[in-house]
Order: sequence, then C-alpha cells, then structure tokens
Amino acid sequence: MKALITGASSGLGRDMARELAARGYDLILVARREDRLRLLAAELPVRTEIICADLADAGAVYDLHARVRGEDVAAVVNNAGFGLFGAFSETDLDAELRMLDVNCRAVHILTKLFLRDFKAQNRGCILNVASSAGFMAGPLMATYYATKNYVLRLTQAIREEVRQAGSAVKVSALCPGPVNTEFNQVAHVRFASRGLDSRRVAAYAVDGMLRGRGVMVPGAEMKAVLALRRFAPETLVTRIAYHIQHRKNG
Ligand SMILES: NC(=O)c1ccc[n+]([C@@H]2O[C@H](COP(=O)([O-])OP(=O)(O)OC[C@H]3O[C@@H](n4cnc5c(N)ncnc54)[C@H](OP(=O)(O)O)[C@@H]3O)[C@@H](O)[C@H]2O)c1
Repeated sequence: MKALITGASSGLGRDMARELAARGYDLILVARREDRLRLLAAELPVRTEIICADLADAGAVYDLHARVRGEDVAAVVNNAGFGLFGAFSETDLDAELRMLDVNCRAVHILTKLFLRDFKAQNRGCILNVASSAGFMAGPLMATYYATKNYVLRLTQAIREEVRQAGSAVKVSALCPGPVNTEFNQVAHVRFASRGLDSRRVAAYAVDGMLRGRGVMVPGAEMKAVLALRRFAPETLVTRIAYHIQHRKNG
C-alpha cells in the first residue's frame, strides 16, 4: 500500500512521510527539490519513489496522477503550499498567481482525480492541508488566507458528498496554527506566537486521516482561539487578524 505526499521535501510533508513510513506505507514523495527528497528516502525503512514536480504547472499535476495511477495508492496528502506577506496592493502578482496554482489548483486537480479512483475502489484517504487561516480573512497575507479558505471549504463539501454517497473513502482537512517548518522563511514572516512541533502535528494529522476525521485543528491553544472566534463579529476578527499579521512582519 502506498501513500503519495506533496511537499515532502520539508516541514510537515517530510514529517508526515516519516509517520506514514512508520505505519508501513510505501511512499511516493513529491516536491521540486530532488536532493531533499533523496535524503529523506535514504532515511526511511520503506520503498520510496521520488517525483520532482513543480505543482504550479497544471501539466505536471496531471502527469503526476497519470504516472502513479496504476500503483497501489491508498492515501494522498495534498500538503505542498506556501505563503507571502505584504499589503495586497504591494505584493508580487506573479508570485500570488503561483500560490493560487500550488495551494488551490493542484489540490483541486489531485483531489478530484484521486477521489474518482478511490470511489471506484471504495477505499482510500485524502488529506488536504489547509490552515487555521482557512477560517478567516487575513489582511497582510490576504491571498494565502483566501487559498486556505478555498481548500478547507472544498474539502468539507467533498467530505459530505462522499458521506452522503455511503462511500468508504475518507476525506479530511488539517488546519494547524503556527508550526515550526520552513514556511516562515519562504513567506518572509516570523510567528507572533510559539509554533507547534512539526513531528507532533504530523503524527496527529496522519492518525486523524487514517481514522477518517473531518476538520483537524492541532493544539489546545488554536482550538480555543477558533472556538472563541465564533462569538466575535467577522469585522472584529479581521481587525485582530490584521494586528497579528502586522506583528509577523519579518
Ligand atoms: N508552518 C505553518 O505554520 C503552517 C500552518 C498552517 C498550514 N501550513 C501548511 O502546511 C503545508 C506545508 O507547509 P510547511 O509549513 O511544511 O512549509 P515548508 O517547510 O516551507 O514546506 C513546503 C513544502 O511545499 C513544497 N512546495 C512549495 N511550492 C511547491 C511547488 N511549486 N511544487 C511542488 N512543491 C512545492 C516545498 O517543496 P519544494 O520547495 O522542494 O518544491 C516543501 O516541501 C502548506 O500547505 C502550508 O500552507 C503551514
């Protein structure tokens, strides 16, 4: 049985690969940095296949699915993604369009194509990595937050469709707050609060995915913040989000 993980060269993706390997899954590791994927593969006690792909390229995303379709893939983790800090009027448009392509379009394509395969087999798990950013608007990281809203809502809706169809396929979303990975360097931010340990979040995510949990929020602190958020008006939440993001300016 194999698991495919996008964004496996670093952070949460790399740690979810380690978790899935510990549970006996052979792995298909996807990212752009081949050297990183090779280092990870060398460390893992299972069979691994490395696929270097830029998921901002829709053609590469279709090719990825076509290449592994005949294999015994039982779990897909759509984890690759990145953020970008700055006022919307100032941030680089091309970088944001690439973000939409990686964070939304690639997730959309892979979720649909693997869901079709899994539904036909009446088995399989799909885990889409959204974020706690998916629950709100994010001034100063507007595009990133919007992409994660997209991933979360898409995943919730598909999960309900699958449930209504009586299918055994499991569809889950992971919504972490800050986690210590390379995310900050890529997005040019620093966290306003202490980040969670990536390996622990990965263990929680893989466990939840295999159990078929729906929306997963790791950590008591973020669970409490999101519960409290329900009682605050949307405009207030957006204002608070602005001030939190402002403190992240790296
Ligand atoms: N860290 C956090 O605080 C946090 C919180 C909530 C959600 N998340 C989400 O968690 C996921 C993983 O991020 P992370 O925190 O682990 O950050 P990370 O350490 O920067 O890892 C991001 C991964 O995505 C891959 N990736 C980025 N662009 C890609 C592209 N064009 N094609 C293929 N792969 C690409 C990177 O691989 P290459 O560069 O080698 O291609 C890397 O493996 C992301 O979706 C992120 O939005 C993170």
